[in-house]
Order: sequence, then structure tokens, then C-alpha cells
Amino acid sequence: MKVLLIGSGGREHALAWKLAKSPLMTEFYAAPGNPGIAEHARLVSLNVEDHEAVAAFCVQKAIDFVVVGPEAPLVAGFADRLRADGLKVFGPSAAAAQLEGSKGFTKDICARYNIPTGAYQRFNNAPKAKAYIREQGAPIVVKADGLAAGKGVTVAMSVGEALGAVDDCFEGAFGAAGAEVVIEAYLDGEEASFFCLCDGKNALPLATAQDHKRVGEGDTGVNTGGMGAYSPAPVMTPEMIERTMKEIIEPTICGMAESGYPFCGVFFAGLMITAKGPELIEYNVRFGDPECQVLMMRLKSDLLPLLLAAAEGTLDKATAEWSDDPALTVVMASKGYPGPYEKNTPILSLPEAGEGAKVFHAGTSLKDGELVATGGRVLNVTATGRTVGEAQSRAYALLDKVEWENGFCRRDIGWRAIEREKA
Ligand code: AMP
Ligand code: GLY
Repeated sequence: MKVLLIGSGGREHALAWKLAKSPLMTEFYAAPGNPGIAEHARLVSLNVEDHEAVAAFCVQKAIDFVVVGPEAPLVAGFADRLRADGLKVFGPSAAAAQLEGSKGFTKDICARYNIPTGAYQRFNNAPKAKAYIREQGAPIVVKADGLAAGKGVTVAMSVGEALGAVDDCFEGAFGAAGAEVVIEAYLDGEEASFFCLCDGKNALPLATAQDHKRVGEGDTGVNTGGMGAYSPAPVMTPEMIERTMKEIIEPTICGMAESGYPFCGVFFAGLMITAKGPELIEYNVRFGDPECQVLMMRLKSDLLPLLLAAAEGTLDKATAEWSDDPALTVVMASKGYPGPYEKNTPILSLPEAGEGAKVFHAGTSLKDGELVATGGRVLNVTATGRTVGEAQSRAYALLDKVEWENGFCRRDIGWRAIEREKA
């Protein structure tokens, strides 16, 4: 099978590493890829925003299957364009990708199909949004409706902060994404990520993970794309997984199909486990980054036929096997991230990772043959262990061998699970 993978981050390196092991793979391309992905696939310098160019490449190389990593191309209709040529694609249509592309769309699906989530209202002007906030009081959550690179959400602990967030949105802080605002009740509990493949009608639960969104240790400081993750998330007990499937995933699948937007791809449900049970914070329509890295470390089955089954509508016959051993990944980022940071800083040496360990490339490039850091999040140092504590020790031991002066990381990834293990 000839496969093209779209994307260039740590998530895509993990997907490439796993896909390349498939006995079904005959030719493997990635666009645009990164130096880590280049170990597994041939890199193609295609502009992914140019759907016509990608479609032409697929015809020229007789590509059988396209796997899309990030959300932006999906929201922009990339999968629809390729499917119009008869290509098989892993990833939802633009209409179905609204689950991530519009928070208001998702909240309306939740309301219509009784999916547990925070009570909400949608607004297209500041005065009405502010009146609602004053009526509801704090804490309260203000969200720009559209894609805002993870920055469009304010969890406001005071009414004043919430009112300020409304002004930010309508004054253009998030561009077109902030033209509409969702105001939502604050949910109290522990967060978890749940991943589930879907082929439009059937679902195959994958695994759970927990991310660390804040830049600082002890979950302090500003939000980032994610500074580290581990899988599984202990808060997602078998009972919670069953409830998530019944109360959240299955009604979403039905709702999307009934609305005329059957969902094919991966559901990444951001959940809050509250006193009442699992509640939906948000959907993403792609694997999490860095959650994907820990999922791929634990997946024992061949990934390629699973993604193919999601694209072909045969997930009812698919099963996935997972290692019981937890996996943990630590993100090394450029100093300054998520704010401004220096680019092209040299990474002098990366350690050899043995069995059950891997350094994934997230934001690296080759410059004159030397490896340099070009992104905010640059490396994902990943390891497995018999416990989260052991996976953490192995990951940090590996990380300490990375020679990259401009890098930093959090030193406490996995702390919640490790506290539980000690208790
Ligand atoms: P999102 O970009 O939707 O993932 O939101 C970013 C973060 O904001 C989430 O990971 C949560 O920590 C927090 N958040 C979003 N919605 C809520 C909510 N209704 N209640 C509490 N926290 C929330
Ligand atoms: N790590 C969170 C995300 O991928 O959105």
C-alpha cells in the first residue's frame, strides 16, 4: 500500500514511526514532514494548503491512502477534495470537522442529543454576551468560536476577567475565530483525553491520556499546545470509558450522521470528569499532540489497517491491542515558548533510544546538514515503564542526554498519576 502522511509535528513523527512498521506498507511519503519523519518516509515538499497540488501528487504516485495529521487542512476541506478524486483518506470532511472548527456547532450537537457538557449560550455581539456573564456570575468560561491555535479559551475566575475576554474576542484578538463567542458554565473536576476511531457509523475506542497544558511545573503559567502527556489516564476507569462511549461518543456519531455529516476519523474528546461523571469540554477531529506519541508507544496492533478501516467503513470488524504498560512523553520546547523564541538553535546530539523509548521530532529542521530547532515545541522524549513513575524516570534519563542549550521542559510530567501510585 502506498501511503501519504500529511503534517510535520511530533504527532506525525509518532504516526510515521508506527505506520512504517506495517507489513502492508510498500511506499511511504510524508508532506512536508520533518527530519524524524524522514527516517521512515520519503519527504515531499508539497504545500498542503494547495489541495490541487496534493491531489495531483496522489494521482502521479498512485497513492492508495492519505493520512491527515493536523486539523487545519481538514477544516479547510482537504479530505473532501481528495475524496472527490476517489482517494481513501483518514480524516473527516470539512462539514464533520466543524466539531473542532466551531465550538458553537459542537455545543448545539450536544444540546440536541443530550450529551453532557457545560450549559452555554452563543453570542455575536459584546453587550449581550456581557449581560449573560453578569447574570451567570463567575467562574465562567469564554471561548472564541473558531480555531484559535489553542488560545481562544479564557477560564475566568471573576466577572471582570470574563468581560475582558469578551472584549478581546470581539476586538479581533483571535481574528475571524472570535467573531462569535460561546459562554459556558465552568466544570470542576479532573481532565482526561479520550480517543476513539469512527467510520461514520461504528466506533472503536482507542485509549486515554492526560496532557499538561500549562507551561510551568505544578500546572502553573500560561496555556501551551501541551508540555507532556501520559497514557492511560487513571481517572478513566473502565466504568468512565463505558459511560463516555454511551453518553458522549455514540450520541455524537448518531447526531452527526443524522445531521448529514457522518464523522470518519478520530474523535479526540476533551473530557472533564466531574462529580456527575464524564462531561464534554471539546472535540478535536485529529490525534492530540503530544497525546498521540504516548498512544503509539502503547499500541501493539498494526496502525495502518485500523486507520484504513475508519476510512472504509469496516471498523465493526477491527480490534486494537494495547500494552498495559504506561507511556509518558516530555516535551522539550525552545526557551520563551509559548511566547517568542529564538529559531535555528543547534541540537548538538540526540541520545540513542532503546526498546520502549523514542525521541520524536516535533519542530526540527536540517540546516547545512546540522539539526536545528525551528519550532516552539521541538522534541518529545518518550518512554514506557511498568508504572507511570518508571516511565517518567526513563523519559527524564533519556532527556538529560539531549544536547540542546536553548531547550527547556517541565520536570513534573505525570505528577497526578505518580501521586496516585504512591498513595
Ligand atoms: P480548549 O481549548 O477548549 O481545550 O480549552 C482549554 C482548556 O480550558 C481546557 O483544557 C480546560 O482546562 C479549560 N476549559 C475549557 N472549558 C472549560 C469548562 N467549561 N470548565 C472548566 N475548564 C474548561
Ligand atoms: N495536546 C492538546 C492538543 O493536541 O490539542
